[in-house]
Amino acid sequence: MKRILLLITFLASTFGLQLKADEGMWLPHLIQSQNYEAMVRLGLKLTPEQIYDVNKSSLKDAIVRLGGGFCTGEMISKDGLMLTNHHCGYDAIQKLSSTQSNYLRDGFWAMKRSDELAAGFSVSFLQRVEDVTDRVTKGLTEKTSLTDRHKQINSESEKIANEVKDSVLHYSGVVKSFFEGNKYYLFVYQTYPDVRLVGTPPESLGKYGGDTDNWMWPRHTADFSMFRIYADANNNPAEYSAQNVPYHPKHHLPVSIKGVEKGDYAMIFGYPGSTDRYLTSYGVKFAIDVEQPSIVKLRRAKLDIYEKYQAQSDEVDLMYSSKHARVSNYWKYYIGQTKGLKRLNVYEKKKDLENQFNTWAQSDPDGTGQYKDVIKMYEDGFAIQNKFQLSRTYINEAVFGVEAIGYAASYIGLANSKKGDDLSDMINELKDETKSHFKDYYKPIDQEVFAAMMRYYSTDIDPSQQPEDFKKLVAKFKGNFDKMAAWIYNKSIMVDQAKAEAFLAKPNVKKLNKDPMYKLMMALYKNYFAAVRPGLSLATEKLEPAKRLFVKGLMEMNPNHKYASDANSTMRMTYGSVLDYYPADAVHYSHYTTMEGVLEKYVPGDHEFDLPAKFIELAKSKTYGQYADSDGKLRVCFLSNNDITGGNSGSPVINGNGELIGTAFDGNWEAMSGDIAFEDKLQRTISVDVRYTLWIIDVFAGAGHLVDEMTIVR
Ligand code: ARG
Repeated sequence: MKRILLLITFLASTFGLQLKADEGMWLPHLIQSQNYEAMVRLGLKLTPEQIYDVNKSSLKDAIVRLGGGFCTGEMISKDGLMLTNHHCGYDAIQKLSSTQSNYLRDGFWAMKRSDELAAGFSVSFLQRVEDVTDRVTKGLTEKTSLTDRHKQINSESEKIANEVKDSVLHYSGVVKSFFEGNKYYLFVYQTYPDVRLVGTPPESLGKYGGDTDNWMWPRHTADFSMFRIYADANNNPAEYSAQNVPYHPKHHLPVSIKGVEKGDYAMIFGYPGSTDRYLTSYGVKFAIDVEQPSIVKLRRAKLDIYEKYQAQSDEVDLMYSSKHARVSNYWKYYIGQTKGLKRLNVYEKKKDLENQFNTWAQSDPDGTGQYKDVIKMYEDGFAIQNKFQLSRTYINEAVFGVEAIGYAASYIGLANSKKGDDLSDMINELKDETKSHFKDYYKPIDQEVFAAMMRYYSTDIDPSQQPEDFKKLVAKFKGNFDKMAAWIYNKSIMVDQAKAEAFLAKPNVKKLNKDPMYKLMMALYKNYFAAVRPGLSLATEKLEPAKRLFVKGLMEMNPNHKYASDANSTMRMTYGSVLDYYPADAVHYSHYTTMEGVLEKYVPGDHEFDLPAKFIELAKSKTYGQYADSDGKLRVCFLSNNDITGGNSGSPVINGNGELIGTAFDGNWEAMSGDIAFEDKLQRTISVDVRYTLWIIDVFAGAGHLVDEMTIVR
């Protein structure tokens, strides 16, 4: 009996393994010891050194962090050409657009380098990673208080970061916690501030399918845009200057147009932002019952207001397009995540694991007793946290969902200044902030959002956690939030560019402290620190050690399981295969989509499914050239079983030879719970097939010179 069982597991593991997704966002510098064999088995042809090397150029040098990690990009030419998603370039493209030259609507292609446009964000390259756990945690024990622990970790991390900082060459370091505080790594980056827009398809293609298709398969979106990184004459980082020249990266990815088949090796490098895979059942329950439905409700209310006004004017539509995309992306995300968590019984699965852990912990396997209270600490910690967490969510989503409140907060420094302080730098910064804030600000929208958000805050939040001044204001207007909004938007300088500028020309702290929006912001802000934060800190005192010990204990309990640390905006690698899936009983989804599907979805004049006339013409005549698949069709998007999350957007999908085959841009609806629990059979990454990208650049946009710049593998 036992022999049969063993045999079955053996078969399952050899055959199953071939295309089984390996959960995990792995650290590139640990690939050799952790994953390399499995990667080779799946089809990788590169050596570990070709992937990650500190001294010689390697694949990691082609991976780009956008800003602080809002997205990922990849180098695809020796002259600094960088590819990322359309939704990653979206904000920059919108800010460069006007109703006269509307690049968001019409697309943009620099036909020569001098046409490329300053994008307004910087990019960074990872130089090296170093384990600094011993130094950071030296002398810390489970007896050390949390405050002392944080103090030491923060000050030591800061010291380490300072040691590698170089302002001339734009080097910076950051120490990050892994496995819930069980490991610490230093990451050293070099940052290039001069990045320029090179090309983007029109929004109708780059965001084809809009919110309807977002987070879903089958997908037909050309979610890509292109930038170029510039450097000084010595290839070093430099602020924007006409004298700058294209940056020559240490490595750029060759682009394969040979095509992608089911079962092909696929790996993705990038900067996943955050996951919560070690979240316990307590956290899952709160997320499902309270947190996520609240976020969805607040975001939907904002979106309804945006959309009402966006429909009335092209100018307002452009102004709020990027804000709308940001709010709606995670509005839909949380709808999907709640559904997924429920449908996939994540709560029950987590509970099982915790019970297993607790049984193991009570047996005191290492004789220290350190794991015995872990589950109890979770229980107690969440009991406290659940009383305050909604307030925190509402501060983020409702209170700071009001643009004027966020803007008012930029005046705190000024309000705290003392007589005789030199304020000139501060005032200049505020003037810049004022200009960029009001560029995309429409007062009627914000006023209505204010009324809606304050109403929700007032009704949903425990009154003992609301500031007295706010409650008085609500009483003064007898709970009429529209009247309250009208009054405050009439009186405050925070909602009117001319008034704000006049104030900044003659700043006056007394006047600032009397401004009703500023006063309200301060009341909410101070109240958060007085009535909410202490409760949350109390919970953290239980939860933080509980998490650290839970993860440490899990690894001891299952020593043969390979654990990956949660995403934290550091470079990760995930490997797997190009793969289809079965989303539901009797339903099968192929691993790729084609141009035929783009045309099937076409709805003339629709705001999500319209297409440019020239595009339809080319698609109908099947003018695909070298980008067609062997069956003559043009493939548009494809699936792989890689493990990615937000921040990975724009990441390169790379084949076994280290060549670019696609750009990752989304996950699938059936596995939206993936950030909390990875579902092997369901979780897929959605990517643009690079042949569709090149076809749009070359054939649709006539920017073949950009393709000529790349290293194409035919
Ligand atoms: N869901 C995608 C992501 O977070 C963003 C796709 C943008 N498209 C959209 N319709 N909002 O990476």
